[in-house]
Amino acid sequence: MLRRTLILAAGAAGVLAAVSGAQAQQTVKIGLILPLTGPFTAIGRQVEMGARLYMQQKGNTVAGQTIELLVKDDGSVADATKRIAQDLIVNEKVNVLAGFGLTPLALATAPLATQAKIPTVVMAAGTATITEASPFITRTSFTLPQATEPMADWAFKNGIKKVVTLVSDYGPGIDSEKAFVGVFTKAGGQVESLRVPLANPDFSPFLQKVADAKPDALFVFVPAGQGAQFMKQFVERGFDKSGIKLIGPGDVTDDEVLNNIGDVALGAITTHHYSVAHDSPENKAFVEAFKKANNMRPNFMAVGGYDGMHLIYEGLKKTNGQGGQALIDAMKGMSWTSPRGPVSIDPQTRDIIQNIYVRKVERKDGELYNVEFATIPNVKDPVKAAKAN
Ligand code: DHB
Repeated sequence: MLRRTLILAAGAAGVLAAVSGAQAQQTVKIGLILPLTGPFTAIGRQVEMGARLYMQQKGNTVAGQTIELLVKDDGSVADATKRIAQDLIVNEKVNVLAGFGLTPLALATAPLATQAKIPTVVMAAGTATITEASPFITRTSFTLPQATEPMADWAFKNGIKKVVTLVSDYGPGIDSEKAFVGVFTKAGGQVESLRVPLANPDFSPFLQKVADAKPDALFVFVPAGQGAQFMKQFVERGFDKSGIKLIGPGDVTDDEVLNNIGDVALGAITTHHYSVAHDSPENKAFVEAFKKANNMRPNFMAVGGYDGMHLIYEGLKKTNGQGGQALIDAMKGMSWTSPRGPVSIDPQTRDIIQNIYVRKVERKDGELYNVEFATIPNVKDPVKAAKAN
């Protein structure tokens, strides 16, 4: 009898130990790695503000778990991103990695996501191949081919026949160049392509070549935050009076820098997945809350951060707080209404499927906006869609 009681007691103690072990596990740690110093600070800051706004609105408890956000600065140096990710995985035991302000920073971390089976949410970078670098990567930003192909289509259909493309010479720039050239030349257009260095670009010698080529339009991709610098040199070279139209994916006229660029941007046509002027109740509420919290406009990077947190929260609800393979699987196929419009996570590619809008820079109530005037619904990353066919 005594022996049975002892065994029962030992069993109960075991159960108790297991329960307290589970309680100790009731924190989900998210490591948010972003460029918060250096030349791409604007990107990191927008993503962080978007992610923090989501947590402020939804609280920090999901499926009975406390969400802890660990924000780390990689200074936009890929080796630092990788080292920080390693430290977060090994020492902090994070359950999710997120952020990634530029393509090389996401690619440097991909092997770690795979090895440690850590769901990794790319909230900013836009090179198409990123989600192919690890089965644990998903994305709430966009891909450059996704945003660019509709631009090429619109340009040709609207009388633009000769274009010079000018892109930052790395992943997303090369992706946007390829996407534009592919669609535009197939339609019958003529293109000349130029690439500028990503770091400290001096656009003037390239703009001289553009002036010599006399195209109908200049297609530009520079990463978010570099648009103001580009436009300054564009005006200095007299392009605003040259009759050459400015077109591209929306990074060059991103909503944060647009008012600083000023009237020279008026009339620029871009295609993108988010505008602060997007007309929906969800976006009005988002923009109002973001401005109240941060005293500035959100841009597409902020929406990537906001939606990335949504994907993590909703994924955790579906898995009842479990991470790893279960969490990445739960994220596949998820759909919701974002401030940008309806979105879903492609279950095959883990990329985001979203509307791409054609927009024109206009002045409204004293401010500049990318005003959406046409919608291409539910666009998948075309590079992966072509491979699947
Ligand atoms: C990247 C892509 C962008 O569209 C942008 O604005 C900034 C960075 C990138 O993938 O590196």
